Amino acid sequence: MKGLILSGGKGTRMRPITHTQAKQLLPVANKPILHYAVEALTKANITDIGIIISPETGDAVSECVGDGSKFGAKVTYIVQDQPLGLAHAVKTARAFLQNDPFIMYLGDNLIKDGVAPLVQQFNNSHVDALILLKEVPNPQSFGVAALDQKGNVVCLEEKPKNPKSNLALVGVYLFTAQIHKAIDEIKPSKRGELEITDAIQRLIETNYKVNSHELQGWWLDTGKKDDMLEANRVVLDEMSDTYNKGLIDENTKLTGRVVVGQNSVLKDCFVRGPAVIGDNCHLEHTYIGPFTSVGNNARVSHAEIEHSILRENCEIINFHGRIEDSLIGANVSLSRRQTRPLAYRLMLGDDSKIEVV
Ligand code: G1P
Repeated sequence: MKGLILSGGKGTRMRPITHTQAKQLLPVANKPILHYAVEALTKANITDIGIIISPETGDAVSECVGDGSKFGAKVTYIVQDQPLGLAHAVKTARAFLQNDPFIMYLGDNLIKDGVAPLVQQFNNSHVDALILLKEVPNPQSFGVAALDQKGNVVCLEEKPKNPKSNLALVGVYLFTAQIHKAIDEIKPSKRGELEITDAIQRLIETNYKVNSHELQGWWLDTGKKDDMLEANRVVLDEMSDTYNKGLIDENTKLTGRVVVGQNSVLKDCFVRGPAVIGDNCHLEHTYIGPFTSVGNNARVSHAEIEHSILRENCEIINFHGRIEDSLIGANVSLSRRQTRPLAYRLMLGDDSKIEVV
C-alpha cells in the first residue's frame, strides 16, 4: 500500500501566516503538522509516500520532510499546479500511485489513534474505499456521510447546507485503484474543485463497496488559528516528556510537564506546563503558561505568554504584558515602551514587527 499526503493548497483561512508558508508546516508542540502525518503512515508500515505540493510552497515542504529517510520512508514529491480539489490531487498523483491501493491523508489533519488499525481493517475487508467519520457539531463545514441502519454508507455530500447527519468526513481515506475511474467520471463542484467526496459518492452509485469507520479519539482539522491552538493544547496535554537540556538559574521554576531544549537559557522565569520551549531560546523575567509552545531561538523578556504558539526566531522584549490565545509567526519582533500590563490576543504573520506605545 502507498501513502499520499496532501500538502498543497493555499491555506487562505490561515492568512497572514500562510502568506509565507504552507499551513502544513506550522508547528504543533514545536513539530510541523506534516511530520505527524508522515509518522502516522510509517507507524502503519506505509513507507512509499507521495507528497502533493504546490509550486508556491513546495520547496519549503520538501526541505521540511526531505527524502523521507529520517522517518524511515521514501518520499516522492508531486507538484499540483493549482489547488483544484482533493480528487484532482489524486489525478495528479496517478503516475506515482499506479494501480496500487493507497491511503490519502490530508496534511493538515491530526488524529489521535494513528492509522494502523484502519489499514488493517481495509486490508481485511475487500472494499474499494474506507472512509473515516467523526461526529461534529458543525457538519456544514465538512463532507458529510449518511449511513443506513446497518452502518453502510449510502450517501456523501460536500459541505451541505442541510446535512443528513452530523458525521463529518475526516481527512483520511483508503482506496483501491477503482477510485481513479470514479474521479474520471465526476465534474467540478460549485466551488470549482474536483471533490473526493463526489468521487466516493460515484463509487457508491456504481455499486462499489464503501465502508466507514467512526473515529472515537480526537480529530483536529487545523484550518484556522483557533484549530491550531486547540491542536497544540491537545498534543501538549498528552505529552509525556519532561526534560531540561538547557540552563536554568535558581530563580526559575518549572512545574508540570515542561520541555526545555538544548542551549536554552532561562533566568527568573516561571514555566507552568504542559509547555515546550525549543532550542537556543533566551527567556528572562517571563511567565510561560500551560499549552504554550515557544519555537527555537526565541528571545523573550518581561512577558507572560499562555495558550499560544510562537514560531521560531521571535523576539518579545520588555513586553510588560500578557499574550494569550495567540499564534505568532516566525521572525516576529514585538516590543513595547510602556510598562502598564495589558493582555493581547494576536495572529501575527512571519516577519511582523509590532511596537506597542
Ligand atoms: C476537505 C474535504 C472534506 C473533509 C475535510 C476534512 O475539506 O473536502 O470533505 O471533511 O477536508 O478536513 P476542505 O479542507 O477542502 O474544506
